[in-house]
Amino acid sequence: MSRTVYVNGAYLAEEDATVSIFDRGFLMADGVYEVTSVLDGKLIDFDGHAVRLERSLNELDMASPMGKDELLTIHRELVRLNNIDEGMIYLQITRGAPGDRDFVFPDPETTKPTVVLFTQNKPGLADSPVAKKGIKVISIEDIRWGRRDIKTVQLLYPSMGKMMAKKAGADDAWMIENGFVTEGTSNNAYIVKDGAIITRGLSNDILHGITRAAVLRFADEAQYKVIERNFTLEEAQQADEAFITSASTFVMPVVEIDGHPVGTGTPGQVATRLRQVYLEECKKNAI
Ligand code: PDD
Repeated sequence: MSRTVYVNGAYLAEEDATVSIFDRGFLMADGVYEVTSVLDGKLIDFDGHAVRLERSLNELDMASPMGKDELLTIHRELVRLNNIDEGMIYLQITRGAPGDRDFVFPDPETTKPTVVLFTQNKPGLADSPVAKKGIKVISIEDIRWGRRDIKTVQLLYPSMGKMMAKKAGADDAWMIENGFVTEGTSNNAYIVKDGAIITRGLSNDILHGITRAAVLRFADEAQYKVIERNFTLEEAQQADEAFITSASTFVMPVVEIDGHPVGTGTPGQVATRLRQVYLEECKKNAI
């Protein structure tokens, strides 16, 4: 059955939804996005995603096409129309379609942003069998641009990274810059050593994960020691545990890095506990 999607004010069957060939998202990757997960038919951390979206738009000098309330209404309507119990909502806003190709930004008075949202139905997202066995990652050089804090749709290198991982028989790639792990291709990266949770601090080098913020808050409340600092690949391989976080994976244990087992080579206690706490707490606050 075809999905109902949202394009510029209209709810349409996916096969009827179109955007212009002149759209700057298509021509220049001039757009931002958000992925919000849905559990029990409710939105997880909607506020966090809405705030980050606003920030991404601001950083790119794009006006927000709608307020938070309207955004929430659209998200909820798509959940309802597509009967989503567990899954994700993808949202993308581009600088619009000026009717030609030009490096110069179009006048926002005449070129309105393109707003697209669609659902991804993922039954079993929370009770994932993958989380029970953990994932394997490889390391790759981080050659992305210098504003990774902006959630833009230029995802070619992360996509290539996933392919490199797949080719190597792994699930994902951790990116390395100046000897330190920045993040995963579409997630934030963590290690656990002697009970302490270690993750890179926030800067322009990484995306400020919404799941990261929640997980670190819950970790703190659960009396775990949290240290925000850079860590190397070698440190990660020698760690007791490793894991990633994102809106689509929540907390996901990492059991192997470049063929080297992490800790016992099975999902660690801290990651497993944090996943449980994250899911419980987020479900309580879902809207
Ligand atoms: N990715 N780092 C990168 C590079 C990401 O693309 C993402 C999210 C994260 C985690 O952010 P959050 O916890 O807010 O999802 C970190 C989404 C899920 C994606 O591209 O599908």
